[in-house]
Amino acid sequence: MSDAFPQTASAPLLQVSGLGKSFGGLRALDSIDLTIFPGEVVGLVGDNGAGKSTLVRCIAGVYVPDEGEIRVDGMPLGPHGPKRAAELGIEVVHQDLALVMHGDVAQNLYLNREIHSRLPLLRQIGWLDKAAMRAGAREILAQVGMGGLVSVRQRVRDLSGGQRQSIAIGRAVGWSRKIVFLDEPTAALGVRQTKHVLDLIGRLRDRGIVVVLISHNMEQVLTTCDRVVVLRLGRKVADEPISNLDGPTLVSYITGVRQSEP
Ligand SMILES: Nc1ncnc2c1ncn2[C@@H]1O[C@H](COP(=O)(O)OP(=O)(O)O)[C@@H](O)[C@H]1O
Ligand SMILES: [Mg+2]
Repeated sequence: MSDAFPQTASAPLLQVSGLGKSFGGLRALDSIDLTIFPGEVVGLVGDNGAGKSTLVRCIAGVYVPDEGEIRVDGMPLGPHGPKRAAELGIEVVHQDLALVMHGDVAQNLYLNREIHSRLPLLRQIGWLDKAAMRAGAREILAQVGMGGLVSVRQRVRDLSGGQRQSIAIGRAVGWSRKIVFLDEPTAALGVRQTKHVLDLIGRLRDRGIVVVLISHNMEQVLTTCDRVVVLRLGRKVADEPISNLDGPTLVSYITGVRQSEP
């Protein structure tokens, strides 16, 4: 592991060691080590195809890595899939949002977490408790500052791109307990919505939740994050506090092309 950043007294929240993942002959991730401590906002950057989304999908339990280990609060993730990752406190806003377009806002916020009610005497008969999910969905929307902007009964396919993005972010942020990964969360957003997302990141940090921000916007990364991890062709090539970084240095890590001497 890099010892470039100061050792904190607290135990790591996320510990990735020796992670490897191939797709056929393509080495998408190679020997990735990454340690994240509570309260950090970490930028994850790299060119297209560097392996950022693959790393996030491994940590979220979507892909099973070929080698290496992922621990959350010391607990191994194991090859158990996204539910296990969620149980361990990991939430992800995937690049492709993964929303159910024909579902309404409440259904999307409760995707894979549906509330079932049961008759006291006939326990085998259960049904979806839509009222409870709508009430919970309203709370999540309020929590992420979207209360009053969209209704929990609106269908996601009828929302604008920015509103859909906000629902996907709301879902992760609303449920997050430890770590939220945002995979290019502002790529499709306008200025005002981008500011809203960056404000949300600040609120998550205040709640003690780790945020890992994947972005192509170097200025956004340098102003929002405490530390930046750079991937290039599946390898980690830099892991530095932002005090050691500026735009040109980051770009040279990303491209592998050294800056020309002044
Ligand atoms: N499911 C997949 N099947 C085959 N190749 C994949 C798959 N997912 C990612 N890749 C490949 O792995 C590499 C890393 O991709 P990705 O993690 O999406 O990069 P990034 O998010 O940094 O742009 C790319 O070459 C990509 O084409
Ligand atoms: Mg990606």
